[in-house]
Amino acid sequence: MKRKELIETYLKFFKSKKHKEVANVSLVPENDPSVLFTTAGMHPLVPFLLGQKHPQGKRLVGVQRCIRTGDIEEVGDTSHHTFFEMLGNWSLGDYFKKEAIEMSFEFLTKVLKMPVERLAFSVFEGDGEVDKDTDSADIWASLGVSNERIVYLEENWWGPAGKTGPCGPDTEMFYWKPNKGKLPGKFNPKDSNWLEIWNDVFMEYNKDTKGNYNLAKQENVDTGMGVERTLAVLNGLEDNYLGEVWQPIIQKIEMISKHKYGEDEIVTRAMRIVADHIKAAVFIINDGIVPGNSEQGYVLRRLIRRAVRYGRVLGIESFTTSIADVVYELYGDYKLDARKITLELANEEERFLKTLAQGLRIFDKVAGSKKMSGTEAFLLYQSYGFPIEMTLELAKEKGIKVDEKEYSDALNKHSELSRTAAAGKFKSGLADDSEATTRLHTATHLLLAAMNKVLPKLEGMKEIQQRGSNINAERARFDFSYDRKLTDDEVKELEDLVNGWIWDGAEVKRDEMSLDEAKKFGAAGIFEDKYKVAEKISVYSIGDGKISKEICTGPHVKSLKELQGCTFKIKKQDSVGAGARRVKVVLE
Ligand code: SER
Repeated sequence: MKRKELIETYLKFFKSKKHKEVANVSLVPENDPSVLFTTAGMHPLVPFLLGQKHPQGKRLVGVQRCIRTGDIEEVGDTSHHTFFEMLGNWSLGDYFKKEAIEMSFEFLTKVLKMPVERLAFSVFEGDGEVDKDTDSADIWASLGVSNERIVYLEENWWGPAGKTGPCGPDTEMFYWKPNKGKLPGKFNPKDSNWLEIWNDVFMEYNKDTKGNYNLAKQENVDTGMGVERTLAVLNGLEDNYLGEVWQPIIQKIEMISKHKYGEDEIVTRAMRIVADHIKAAVFIINDGIVPGNSEQGYVLRRLIRRAVRYGRVLGIESFTTSIADVVYELYGDYKLDARKITLELANEEERFLKTLAQGLRIFDKVAGSKKMSGTEAFLLYQSYGFPIEMTLELAKEKGIKVDEKEYSDALNKHSELSRTAAAGKFKSGLADDSEATTRLHTATHLLLAAMNKVLPKLEGMKEIQQRGSNINAERARFDFSYDRKLTDDEVKELEDLVNGWIWDGAEVKRDEMSLDEAKKFGAAGIFEDKYKVAEKISVYSIGDGKISKEICTGPHVKSLKELQGCTFKIKKQDSVGAGARRVKVVLE
């Protein structure tokens, strides 16, 4: 089976079960605070999992591009990928365990025709706080699954993606990969020949800021099926990289490097890493990120630089853009912005190539002593552009120990970027939907509106647009299209205007409308991507639309009166690549 066919089959099956298709949104969450990347199809649905009415109804289905960065250094085996596509179906307070499991089973065994003998299932063991999920186990058994193939595990719990939010027990579906040998009777989840392909999460809890698990307003289902993995098993491949969504990339690497995939472990692993990282980098750049030293930009930098380093293992240089060419073609349906991506990749590769060889020499110098000081690791980062993760990985390969504590101290002394803070973020999910975060979220709408009123439009610019935002309880970071630093006067004017609006205390209203209606209404927002499939979208208006009108999933305060007592301040300005600026704002 091919990628497109699997995706279409999945969507069709769930549409036949009354699900509506949601859009495949950006990898950079638009209005979702502290996630760096969309890591699952549920991210854009959080407000709806928490009870807000979804304009498309209670049963949704979709395919979502995802990035998981928790284990970049682990990529290189047969089944882990940084970029992947996830199929999912959701029930927002509609069906629950029985229907979800029955539909999963029907899709696997009847539609995809997977032999039940090759399937196994895990369910939640219970943990003192939440009971053992005997319901799910009974449902699998009622469908004809033998008890040997159902195990209870404590780790069968998903979420919340961030500190707070929807979560619950899950049931995972596994497929026995090996084509040869006898099928095992009993399911042993520790045996990696059992590949997890799908996960049904029963999101009936909402974790609050105090760490309590409260029963959510509604019982939701959130499922996620990995496209690459499922394709691999459907096509009888024990190595995902032998599949259709990887082979053209691997072949290109073979061609440029004159090595053969499978030739030996070192070459094979290097090829997988190069293929994985360039594919991920292509999609991240396409969604508006450029290489940098913090957050998404830093992840992107790490991916490109790690690919470049593994390119050296294969004896190739200046190769990233020709591999990207294959990705553009392979994923033609995404209409990737080849020009922009090629430019960023080429620049970043060139930048790193200038210092890579010199940096590697530092490793040769310390090789004898088996120890690298934190100062040296910091020098590698600062002067030779080695992300610390790369230094640690290289050191491990060479049996060298790095003084990480000294490195962090040096880094903290020299820059604002703290590796621990950044590393924490990579795995983190949505920020809390606390009142403070919600207030700041509304403040960013005010800020965008104020910018369009106060700032002069630069040459060729029709309006100032939001490029991204990241909000937690303390501050909001807001990226927007603009080409220069704001002057002190402009900053003051923006602050005064926003504070004036807060003082007036207008109402904030949410309306549902079609995309066309929203356009006519003059709502700001990303029209072409996020909302292309949605039939109805939410538009938030402040002050009857006189202050601001913006497409957004929320959440927001009901009235600007909730911001009174706070002063809106712009704290910091930065550039985030060509044509984009970032401000940090607070409500003091
Ligand atoms: N959120 C769940 C997962 O990521 C199901 O999609 O596995």
